[in-house]
Amino acid sequence: MLIAGNWKMNLLPHEGMLLTHEICEGMKSISPEIEILICPPFTHLAQCSVIIESDDARISLGAQNCDSHEFGAYTGEISPLMLVSMGVEYVIIGHSERRVLFNESNEIIAEKCHVVLEAGMIPIICIGETLEERNAGNFEGIVREQLLGILRNEAILESILNSDIVIAYEPVWAIGTGLAADPDQAENAHKFIRSILNEYLPGQSDMIRILYGGSVKPDNASAYFAMPNIDGALIGGASLNVESFLAIAQSA
Ligand code: 13P
Repeated sequence: MLIAGNWKMNLLPHEGMLLTHEICEGMKSISPEIEILICPPFTHLAQCSVIIESDDARISLGAQNCDSHEFGAYTGEISPLMLVSMGVEYVIIGHSERRVLFNESNEIIAEKCHVVLEAGMIPIICIGETLEERNAGNFEGIVREQLLGILRNEAILESILNSDIVIAYEPVWAIGTGLAADPDQAENAHKFIRSILNEYLPGQSDMIRILYGGSVKPDNASAYFAMPNIDGALIGGASLNVESFLAIAQSA
């Protein structure tokens, strides 16, 4: 089970450091079988990494994005190799906020996925439909297209065979709205996603963790974790508060 906090563009560095300390402290109440991951903004990563290491805490560190090149004239961008050098193990790729607000296409997301794998990190590939797409009965087509953007790429498939990926199913209508998906609805989506993974990665698909994301809170989390195809959660708002984040982890 993987419990991941996506802090998005929140918390000043000193607040992020405090939250990291508090999570390290609270880890004693979390079963060792639960993997805890925090994904702070770029500006906080180096300090968070020092805190996690000095506390010897079982917390993994992730970034929320990265560029698809290793080095070069890409003003304002962050290289996957820079992230690795700071102790980053996971990178969130293709979050719906990046797809919508920053025009990231399935092609760009595939390029990022490839460089993250090449750099030895684990991509958390976000997929999910909008409300209009769901209401139009188009959920399966959209999710399939987003996944195939990654899985149809031979080079990526090759890298995945020697590595690991995480999929995050985040229906856009459930993100930050309080309208969490019904657990059965989420389980059906996860089952569908796993069946596509099985087409391209037979033998590996059962091991790939599929997280649910979208208004996960302490009072609804355990219903998701009881589902056979839900392997954890990607949490936004509730990951900014130590009590709610740890309560979700405890229910896993
Ligand atoms: P919320 O938990 O705030 O709905 O955000 C989910 C999300 O986007 C995680 O990546």
